[in-house]
Amino acid sequence: MRVNHAGEIAAQALYHGQALAARDPATREMLLRAARDEADHLAWCATRLSELDSQPSRLDPLWYAGSLAIGALAGLMGDRISLGFVVETERQVEGHLEGHLGSLPEADARSRAIVAAMRTDEMTHGAKAKAAGGVELPMPVRALMRATARVMTGTAYWL
Ligand SMILES: [Fe+2]
Ligand SMILES: [Fe+2]
Repeated sequence: MRVNHAGEIAAQALYHGQALAARDPATREMLLRAARDEADHLAWCATRLSELDSQPSRLDPLWYAGSLAIGALAGLMGDRISLGFVVETERQVEGHLEGHLGSLPEADARSRAIVAAMRTDEMTHGAKAKAAGGVELPMPVRALMRATARVMTGTAYWL
């Protein structure tokens, strides 16, 4: 759950960075709307973490700052690439949440409900970005994003 919480911090920051650099007001509005969903997700994860007597990642400010910068960079490359970045990010997040659902105990109905609801929203974010003209990113970029996410999730699990 701490990893999910850190992931939502990063997701929100990516969207904020991308919105800052977006050219088309409609794109910016879409990004900010998604960021608000991520803020909801963050709140759900924070509640669940405290119910489980755990705490968020101590590196949260780092996740936010790093993701804001990456989001702004993606945004500077133009709206269609930026939307493509959303499509790929949400695809990877969906995969992560899917895996998490597979490993969560059946008895932990509350955590499962949160992860499932987030997964549905992430799929919607990705689908909307694709419908708005998001382009498919080249393979090396997708691999780099995957590697970056792995460093973050791996670290946030412990710290
Ligand atoms: Fe999310
Ligand atoms: Fe999302």
